[in-house]
Amino acid sequence: MTGERPNRGLILGIETTCDETACAIVDVDASPRVLANVIATQHELHAPYAGVVPELASRAHVERLVPTLRAATAQAGVDLSDLTAVAVADRPGLIGSLLVGLTAAKSLAWTLGIPLIPVNHVHAHLLAAFVERDEPIENFLPAIGLAVSGGHTAIYEIAGPAIVRTLGATIDDALGEAFDKAATLLGLGHPGGPLLEQLAEDGDPRSHKFPIARLDKASLDLSFSGLKTAVLYAVRGIPARGGVFERDHTSLTEQAKADIAASFQRAACGAIKLKLSRAIEQWGGADSPRAIVAGGGVIANRAVRATIEGVASKHNLPALLAPSHYCTDNAAMIAFMGSLLPLPEQAAAMASPPRATVDRV
Ligand code: KG4
Ligand code: ZN
Repeated sequence: MTGERPNRGLILGIETTCDETACAIVDVDASPRVLANVIATQHELHAPYAGVVPELASRAHVERLVPTLRAATAQAGVDLSDLTAVAVADRPGLIGSLLVGLTAAKSLAWTLGIPLIPVNHVHAHLLAAFVERDEPIENFLPAIGLAVSGGHTAIYEIAGPAIVRTLGATIDDALGEAFDKAATLLGLGHPGGPLLEQLAEDGDPRSHKFPIARLDKASLDLSFSGLKTAVLYAVRGIPARGGVFERDHTSLTEQAKADIAASFQRAACGAIKLKLSRAIEQWGGADSPRAIVAGGGVIANRAVRATIEGVASKHNLPALLAPSHYCTDNAAMIAFMGSLLPLPEQAAAMASPPRATVDRV
């Protein structure tokens, strides 16, 4: 990518917003090159609870951040003193987890006398498609953005790396959360999204007619709680009085479970297709959208990718989807996003000596 990039050199990215401790080093002197991309997942810690336990997550970040940073500098073959900036995901996320990454990033930036660049985690997901792309991002703006992860599901108008306007968002669960809950109901492990995708391969997507929330006629918001409830009833039956269910997933055949998984995925894709198409048709920006840009954990799903590509091709737009290795949480997207953002005032002051000022949060 050769477009305007305010920050050059060797940028360290730090990501600790949820349950991945990640450090990456990206060389942005010419086309960005990811020199190191190290991710310590915590899936094994949270699996017994079928969801992320915030307190466990922040404690694990404390233990894993320094080894992850060491692994990243070793992988990149650089010293800390070679770094030119530290980019850190500072929002949104679990507060304890955010604090660990932010404290480490501030300490490093201050000690090394280099700028600290705060990065919005969801915006970084959105632009992850550009981490290893040669074309400048400006060639695709304005773009329709779609972020679909475990914590967020929203559609955006992207006018620039830091100019992102929300057009619509889920009014209840994120789609990744719905994938995970549906997977738990089907007796799969954690995180359930990729396991549900695998199970869906053997199922009939038309076996169950699960709901797609349309909301108001023109609404670009999404909703997945009804879909989750429909899967609950399909797996466990309609509850009797007092909320007692007649069965659980152990009473279902493998084929019955695969059919539910495939039908869930079809409804999820139907919702994305509906809202993305509406967003294009209702576009109110001065210039027409030039691309659909998508990222976040659920964008790793092949059926979801095919759905977005289908909508894009119907509207003659390119679909720029994050490569699957940059869909789930990683720090390469944080470092890359850091290269695109203007430095905050105080951080800019740190870029030239004297460098002994404390940065803003
Ligand atoms: O972006 P991400 O790593 O974390 C958040 O920012 O939330 O997304 C994690 C979510 C989880 O809910 C996970 O089950 C889902 O992304 N996910 C998938 C797939 N891979 C990850 N969902 C469906 N199909 C997949 N292949
Ligand atoms: Zn994420």
